Amino acid sequence: MLIACARRLRNIVFILFVLRWTRKLFYQLKGRGIFGSAVDIYTYLRRTLFGIFLRLPGVRTKVQTQVAETILKLERKLVPSGPGVLRITSLPSEGWSEEEVRQKLVELSEMEHTRWEDGRVSGAVYHGGDDLIRLQTEAFGKFTVSNPIHPDVFPGIRKMEAEIVAMVLSLFNAPAGAVGVTTSGGTESILMAVLSARNKAYTERNVAEPEMILPETAHTAFRKAGEYFKIKIHLVACKAPSYRVHLPSVSRLINPNTVLLVGSAPNFPHGIIDDISGLSKLAHKKKLPLHVDCCLGSFIIPLLPKAGFDFEPFDFKLKGVTSISCDTHKYGFAPKGNSTVLYRSDEYRKYQYFISPDWSGGVYASPSIAGSRPGALIAGCWASLVKQGENGYIDACHKIVGAKQRIESAIRERPELSSDLKVVGKPLVSVVAFLSNTLNIYDIADAMSAKGWHLNALQNPPAIHVAVTLPIVAVVDSLIQDLVEVTEEIKDAERKRVAEGKGAKGKAMGDSAALYGVAGSLPNKSVVVDLAKGFLDTLYKA
Ligand SMILES: *Cc1c(COP(=O)(O)O)cnc(C)c1O
Ligand SMILES: *[C@@H]1O[C@H](CO)[C@@H](O)[C@H](O)[C@H]1NC(C)=O
Ligand SMILES: *[C@@H]1O[C@H](CO)[C@@H](O)[C@H](O)[C@H]1NC(C)=O
Repeated sequence: MLIACARRLRNIVFILFVLRWTRKLFYQLKGRGIFGSAVDIYTYLRRTLFGIFLRLPGVRTKVQTQVAETILKLERKLVPSGPGVLRITSLPSEGWSEEEVRQKLVELSEMEHTRWEDGRVSGAVYHGGDDLIRLQTEAFGKFTVSNPIHPDVFPGIRKMEAEIVAMVLSLFNAPAGAVGVTTSGGTESILMAVLSARNKAYTERNVAEPEMILPETAHTAFRKAGEYFKIKIHLVACKAPSYRVHLPSVSRLINPNTVLLVGSAPNFPHGIIDDISGLSKLAHKKKLPLHVDCCLGSFIIPLLPKAGFDFEPFDFKLKGVTSISCDTHKYGFAPKGNSTVLYRSDEYRKYQYFISPDWSGGVYASPSIAGSRPGALIAGCWASLVKQGENGYIDACHKIVGAKQRIESAIRERPELSSDLKVVGKPLVSVVAFLSNTLNIYDIADAMSAKGWHLNALQNPPAIHVAVTLPIVAVVDSLIQDLVEVTEEIKDAERKRVAEGKGAKGKAMGDSAALYGVAGSLPNKSVVVDLAKGFLDTLYKA
């Protein structure tokens, strides 16, 4: 009797096991197809084999030495050293005078750097003008000690925070009942939207092994969310010529474990807006949440129509869009550390809240990751929004998108550029990316660096981009001029190299070319991971 029972139990367990794996196999084949699955296996094998190769005794020490050398070089560049450098590694036993502190701060702000003030840096500094900065600093000063966790102590901060969310909601055509929260940046906004989708699926549909589907060009914050919150990620290709996410692939990857679909408006690498209307229809049909990442688009994309530029629908007007992230600290020109995440209704927002009713420290409730938060930043953000106003942002939109168009048309139309460079897709917002089928694009990035420009190097495919900001608007002509010169130079060098029949080794390699051209092309990127870790460690060397 007992034995028969045990045997039956064993059979049931076995059948459940087989069912589970059949189901997994079924969704893998449905999602990626036979060919796609074969490619996945091939990639995995290549990575593993190369990983084993990297661990071979001789290879390993060689690689480790190279990595250590590169990190040391980086350290010499980033961390000032030598006898003349004052390094503070413990509290001064006696506090400095105000004058001393002030003087040191001036020195620190004037350390040699890439000149963002002269418009030399792509993205990075979303400056709204000196007047605005002065106003933000005043707002900081008034609210330095404030903390929105105590709304009774700082009622003004609570009011400003609520008003910021309301203003951003109205910019994105939010329906009645829409809600939002403020966060410390785009990454936190995205983390919160993903967490909310995961918790919602867990509570309402019992999804214990969550998955989400991303365009491969979606911001890495989504991959971070996947790692932090243990959500499996499916990447969908964004192929030429449109470089938008391939909708049929998204559709095939949807299965009962899917908790969230994602689109960018626009994405960081190429500044391309995904087909949000298509994603919205799909999300609505499958009853899945859809997050639209407008962190970068922020205050530019909603104002494209009013500024008279081409645009595409992307916001809450599309009924499948359930959440949107918008960075006030990008084109909202608010101080860094500020962003918002918006939801179609409280049915989504409530899943990102953290509430602990029985803590010995009291009933505790907080909307997002942080506990205490700087109210000063909220004041700075609020001041920026009301100071700029709709007209201010429309004006900025004109300048920024206008400058993006100048760069884009130069690359498409000026013969010195158009013969070798190609614009990626059809960018409508502030970023223009370009690649080359004839030259090594990273050589162009490095040569631009040598001229003092800091452009962003991209990979898969190799490309570079310019994210236009107000400081760049002022110098866009010299940027184009330098791009023309650099392209000619590199073309000449290439011609000479071919004429002399030299291999690629003939020339010295720049930093981007080394990192993305060589290290990036390896099947297993563990070397790149080691370098990046070394970089992070270097940041904390006093
Ligand atoms: C900048 C950016 C983010 C993340 O923003 P952080 O504020 O740096 O965390 C997310 N998505 C896109 C498209 C971005 O450009
Ligand atoms: C890549 O290589 C590293 C180092 O040899 C190894 O630890 C890692 O497991 C490899 N990755 C894969 C997917 O095999
Ligand atoms: C600004 O940043 C602070 C600090 O991270 C955050 O607590 C606050 O909610 C943000 N406010 C806005 C309006 O983005």
